[in-house]
Amino acid sequence: MNYPESRMRRYRSTPLARKAAQDIFISPGNFIQPLFVTSGAENEKIPSMPGVERIGSRNLRSALKEIEEAGIPSILVFPIIPEDEKDETGSSCYQESKSVSKIVANVRKNTSLNLMVDLCLCPYTTHGHCGLVDKESILNDETLEILGKSAVSLANAGADWVAPSGMIDGMVSSIRSALDQSGNQDIAILSYSIKFASGFYGPFREAAHSAPKMSDRKSYQMDYRSGWQIERELAQDIAEGADAVMVKPALPYLDVIRQIAQQSPVPVAAYQVSGEYSMIMNAAQQGMLTAHEAFDETFYAFRRAKAQWIISYFALEYCKNTF
Ligand code: PBG
Repeated sequence: MNYPESRMRRYRSTPLARKAAQDIFISPGNFIQPLFVTSGAENEKIPSMPGVERIGSRNLRSALKEIEEAGIPSILVFPIIPEDEKDETGSSCYQESKSVSKIVANVRKNTSLNLMVDLCLCPYTTHGHCGLVDKESILNDETLEILGKSAVSLANAGADWVAPSGMIDGMVSSIRSALDQSGNQDIAILSYSIKFASGFYGPFREAAHSAPKMSDRKSYQMDYRSGWQIERELAQDIAEGADAVMVKPALPYLDVIRQIAQQSPVPVAAYQVSGEYSMIMNAAQQGMLTAHEAFDETFYAFRRAKAQWIISYFALEYCKNTF
């Protein structure tokens, strides 16, 4: 197209001129607040994630209230369990007498927020992998049954959404049928559909005590050097019944967010992961930039790429100081 030569600065000359030119918007309704919740009473600091803590039961109600008051509609909970509840198969993820279930029930008791719960084996297995392990390999189909059981137990504890994050093939359909067969038709699935094997998950693995003890996650998470698999991953999760899909990490994958948003018939979430968060916070702590400004810019980038939802550790802080 041929544009007339013009002075673009006419759109930028004053705050009101800039406001009038704005066509990308963010509201608290766009955010999902991730939350690490422990079985202990007290909060615990996470050195690699400045400003983020594992929330203990004593502070749970006030933490949830703050999120509600900021107008954020949803939380994504990561239950943090004691090491002695972990085993080879991650069985505590579906045993209702164990911490996972109790943590979720306790969150449910204290809030009416949309309660999304991460569903994976890595925080509950001794080896830290997202599926059952046989020697060096991560077993796919054997893992599906456990994920189904975990979904039912999270639903029974009060989750509104389960968010399978393990990149196990067929996880969405297995979870959907387990939920339906147990009378949990109304529980929704937010699938980590487009999840790359990323170097940006480091701080999370410290926070959730979920680092793999041997090898890495490249045999099941996506290879960022391959673009053609993206469309397939989306198509499969949609066909299997995902109610929302996710792209993760976010900032290095804005093109992918845009691609998925154009193709997806369900809401698309961008997950600004722990490494992305900590990069900005550490730079801010060293006086190199202002955290709020940097996050603001990334959030507008996600919205410009057409993400409907933004999952960010900075969500609460941002909403408190913006709206
Ligand atoms: C569990 C899971 C991970 C994250 C979310 N769910 C870690 C991983 O896959 O190793 C990462 C989130 C973050 O870095 O903020 N499978």
